[in-house]
Amino acid sequence: MTVTKKLLVLPGDGIGPEVMTEVARVVAWMGRARGIAFDISEDLVGGASLAVHGVPIRDEVIVAARAADAVLFGSVGDPKWASVGFDLRPEVAILKLRQELGLFANLRPAKVFDALAEASTLKPEVVAGLDIMIVRESVGGIYFGTPRGIETLPDGTKRGINTEIYTTSEIERVARVAFDLARQRGKRVCSVEKCNVMESGLLWKEVVTALHAREYADVELTHMLADNCAMQLVRNPRQFDVIVTGNLFGDLLSDLASMLTGSLGMLPSATLGAVDGEGRRPALYEPIHGSAPDIAGKGIANPLAQILSFAMLLRYSFAMEAEAALIEQAVANVLASGLRTADIMSPGMAQVGTSVMGEAVVRELDKLNG
Ligand code: IPM
Ligand code: MG
Repeated sequence: MTVTKKLLVLPGDGIGPEVMTEVARVVAWMGRARGIAFDISEDLVGGASLAVHGVPIRDEVIVAARAADAVLFGSVGDPKWASVGFDLRPEVAILKLRQELGLFANLRPAKVFDALAEASTLKPEVVAGLDIMIVRESVGGIYFGTPRGIETLPDGTKRGINTEIYTTSEIERVARVAFDLARQRGKRVCSVEKCNVMESGLLWKEVVTALHAREYADVELTHMLADNCAMQLVRNPRQFDVIVTGNLFGDLLSDLASMLTGSLGMLPSATLGAVDGEGRRPALYEPIHGSAPDIAGKGIANPLAQILSFAMLLRYSFAMEAEAALIEQAVANVLASGLRTADIMSPGMAQVGTSVMGEAVVRELDKLNG
């Protein structure tokens, strides 16, 4: 049976378009080998959109994102636009998509592939077998709180302002996602805030504690201060199963956790909204890495995080667990065969570029599919 799913593809800036080209091979393979047809449209975001349309994201793109079954996003950010006003920066594209589509739960897995345990800057015995899921709140907190801005003081000096805000319902809905995920995994949630200095953190802790007592007593809940969590992630990362935290701490801790796996170039993410009356759930999938302008256009970027983001898309938006697992297995096999892009290169391995890596994944998919 052929199913047609509507995908909006937004490659963005820097290495985004290059790694997206490799995902296109995997998408095409799904159509060919598994009868999963995608109705794909593509548009510009970030600096690429600024260059053509003068804005980081057009309203039409937001509308198209709402109408799509899922959005596959590359990365945005380009030093060329470093001096434009804050509301015109390339990064606005992803922030606006998250906010306009209500994508409040950013799922950032940090999973170590066996073949890459050596590529981590930490000792292999500390990271081998690591499998944690960071659930980062992604439409609230200090990223969006007001008042915000830069104002001039009477003496001519300036003051920069941002505001951390969390409401009970914002905390509950993201905590629910974390508890539900934990039930399908190791049944442990660690809630992370700074309740020792921030009222919003204190409320966060109270709300998570109460929700846990009411609805999730079968899951183990612990609490940790964000600074301690950063330390614990490096000291003994395998103590964690699911971590749930606010927008800013989640941004920092997920970058940190990604490096445990060997490279930022390996990690996918999913950002999910609320299920609507018709059972549809807005969702966007993107690698954790940025646009990496320093290596853009050189054909050396690691396409695996973008390919694994497509696997997450199949799993979370379309419940195609078998296909998602197939892609993840293909990636694991390619790594086990010794192919490495520059970011995960280690002695004795074969260094390849972006497209050779993408082709290798497709070849592996063919083998696995028999
Ligand atoms: C991320 C990125 C974004 C963020 C930037 C590009 C706005 O760092 O997705 O982690 O800070 O959320
Ligand atoms: Mg980040």
